[in-house]
Amino acid sequence: QTDSALRAAAELVREVPDFPEPGVLFRDISPMLADGPALAAVVGALGRDFRFDVVAGVEARGFLLGAAVAQAAGTGVIGLRKPGKLPEVADRVDYTLEYGRATLELPAGTLRAGQRVLVVDDVLATGGTLGAACRLVRQAGSDVAAAAVVLELTALEGRDKIAGEEIRALLSV
Ligand code: PRP
Repeated sequence: QTDSALRAAAELVREVPDFPEPGVLFRDISPMLADGPALAAVVGALGRDFRFDVVAGVEARGFLLGAAVAQAAGTGVIGLRKPGKLPEVADRVDYTLEYGRATLELPAGTLRAGQRVLVVDDVLATGGTLGAACRLVRQAGSDVAAAAVVLELTALEGRDKIAGEEIRALLSV
């Protein structure tokens, strides 16, 4: 049941060539999120059997997934944001992305030391983003329960940037 639902959900990932730059094949999970059964299958699978106190969702599709996973588990959710969005920043991490540089920020007054955090995002590509998210969690004195994504682009070997963390990818290409 779960496997067939995830396979059906996988069919809804949209491939967009040359975005955001020529030569990059962008995988967009928006149509998957827009489908009720697919969203339910993905949200259920992301958090299943992990123990966590709070979810951290990475901007932007990680917000949608993270909030749903948190709601299903009865926890809160924290949005890890791109720079310039937050009124008060607890901490920030700079990192290298497949196409450029980026920064991720933790909102003030959210994560408490000692909490177990499930980090959620849509795609694991070079691993820069998920690595930065995990660093923000650890720098706050909290623990990464796991990093969970819908789709892993295995050729980019992003996993290596997050060595030591438990990683769950529902689909891989
Ligand atoms: C995408 C994706 C992940 C990140 C993965 O976000 O949603 O967050 O890239 O790439 P990495 O493993 O190489 O770090 P994007 O930068 O497109 O931002 P958006 O979600 O705000 O559109």
